Amino acid sequence: MRKIRPCIITLDGPAGVGKSTVAQTLADFFRLAYLDTGAMFRAVALHLGEGSWAWPEKELETALNKIHFHLAGQGLAARLTVNNQRIGQEIRAEEVGLWASHLGQRPEVRDYLKRAQQEIGSKTSLVAEGRDMGSVVFPAAGWKFFLDATAEERARRRWLQLTARGQNADLGTLTRDLRRRDEQDRNRSVAPLRPAPDAYVVDTTNLNLKQVEEKLRKLIQEKN
Ligand code: DC
Repeated sequence: MRKIRPCIITLDGPAGVGKSTVAQTLADFFRLAYLDTGAMFRAVALHLGEGSWAWPEKELETALNKIHFHLAGQGLAARLTVNNQRIGQEIRAEEVGLWASHLGQRPEVRDYLKRAQQEIGSKTSLVAEGRDMGSVVFPAAGWKFFLDATAEERARRRWLQLTARGQNADLGTLTRDLRRRDEQDRNRSVAPLRPAPDAYVVDTTNLNLKQVEEKLRKLIQEKN
């Protein structure tokens, strides 16, 4: 009997561009599981702690081998766990995002997470969101998108999100941190943030998230 390959949609782009919201809505619409690979980098960062990005190769690899990701459940009900624990809001701190970006420069971490992501994608149809999903992790994905927007607009969106949750946020600091993370994500030597050659690039600076979702949905349905 022929094995049916899971269907993969990839969504890449810089921090704060709205990937998570769009990816979740698409997953919801097409009844697929949602894989937030930024959450995997953040969970590793929180697990290993501040400064772990400077550890020697062997120490880092030994620590990584003790971290196990699992996507439990199918489709919309699928939930990512790390060492059998649900990943909570504690990974969402801006500081943890920066640590994740530092760790994302280490080839050992990228290799480890790439294997974990491919393992998940070999069993489950997904909308996979991150920085290198279309270019490195799932090069054979059926649909690849890259969302972009200016740093100012992304910081403004993040600020709106945080203040809506009642959290204190300073727009200037958010813009500066986003630029720092962009620079690091775009200029690292392994799997730098850039669109896959066959990705559909959408500049979302002047679009709202609903317009972005509709655009992507149409493109997927047309190609189907
Ligand atoms: O998407 P996010 O902001 O939660 O990601 C946090 C950091 O993790 C991001 O700055 C870079 C790193 N990351 C990565 O290098 N590759 C991915 N596929 C996802 C995240």
